[in-house]
Amino acid sequence: MSGADGDAVAHAARQPLLRTLAQLDVEDKRVLVRVDFNVPLGEGDGGERVVADDTRIVSALPTIEELRSRGARVILVSHLGRPKGQADPQLSLAPVAQRLRELTGASVTLAPGVAGEPVGELAEKLAPGEILLLENVRFEPGETSNDPDFARALARLADAYVNDAFGAAHRAHASTEGVAHLLPSAAGRLLEREVKTLYGILESPARPLVAVIGGAKVADKIAVIDRFLEVADVVIIGGAMCFPFFAAQGHPVGDSLCAADDVEHARRALAQAAGSGKARLELPVDLVIAERFAADAEHRALDAVEVPAGWMGLDIGPRTAERYAKEISAAGTVFWNGPMGAFELAPFAAGTRAIAEAVARAKGVTVVGGGDSAAALAQFGLQGQVTHLSTGGGATLELVEGSTLPGVQALELGEVA
Ligand code: 3PG
Repeated sequence: MSGADGDAVAHAARQPLLRTLAQLDVEDKRVLVRVDFNVPLGEGDGGERVVADDTRIVSALPTIEELRSRGARVILVSHLGRPKGQADPQLSLAPVAQRLRELTGASVTLAPGVAGEPVGELAEKLAPGEILLLENVRFEPGETSNDPDFARALARLADAYVNDAFGAAHRAHASTEGVAHLLPSAAGRLLEREVKTLYGILESPARPLVAVIGGAKVADKIAVIDRFLEVADVVIIGGAMCFPFFAAQGHPVGDSLCAADDVEHARRALAQAAGSGKARLELPVDLVIAERFAADAEHRALDAVEVPAGWMGLDIGPRTAERYAKEISAAGTVFWNGPMGAFELAPFAAGTRAIAEAVARAKGVTVVGGGDSAAALAQFGLQGQVTHLSTGGGATLELVEGSTLPGVQALELGEVA
């Protein structure tokens, strides 16, 4: 559901009641746990592949440790990248297994495949408290097609199923959806917290609710903007996506990013904000502009939003940053998704830094979603200073838009395997 019909709220999915880990009998059982270990990889000192950012692994530890302490035999299953149904050594979960060993101190065995005989034998032999990590589940073509035979092969490995992969919950795949119907199943602690927090700020936020939406493409976030225009008090727009809004208002945007379809989306959002939308829509009042997209490009502050020909906007300006920071500090709840500018280039990082600092300082509930905003918080050393840092990218946006996430729906009370 896109919300593009202006009817989004009436049909928006309500907070589901989930079966939880507390309700699942796991002692001495083999428990298949879907995690989202789709993490960035880098190169170690010896040229080996290593986990470059372990946030998603660390976030799954409460579930893994609870299961181990309750005497479960833990079988972890995750995807990494998009290998298209065949084994690709570059996308092996070996670096993840190594990081998991370091983080848990547990015995972690990396299976030679995803399902089938040798893997089944390893699962059989697993002792309580031990961990078996299956190979990248997307090495199997049946995963993304949610093939019932493949879901059954996964189910045969275990006695119970836990889904803690919130980041993959918007995918109706065999390991996120199909298998949930075949075993006694429950939500893991991370997935449960993500769902409660995100639905919580949409359905009963401490007010005012301020949504800060940045990034490059309006099209990617239009359904999120629509939803917040209905449920928030203030919607703040930043990043390159402000230019389609300016174009729709008739301002020149110079060489700034500004696709024609985005201008159409922006025009409609402006109409919604002026009409049925409840929230106040805030756009930048000043900018930082540059001659090209590069750290060493000539750049200057522009105390207006009319971008001259030959220049492009790459950050919000200081007056805008101050206004936005004030809105954030007065908020009862803040949702932030997307940077305010090209923060990866030092001359254009100030706007995103100001917002990150305001979010970190805010007294209200602060929820940050999306890889870029998380990376910005990390870049400024502020990642521990928000109420909830969502591990979902697309999943977070889809939930906020009002879509039902198949991986979550399969865990609802009343849908018992
Ligand atoms: C993510 O990184 O957003 C999730 O792991 C989902 O990955 P996917 O977009 O490849 O399904």
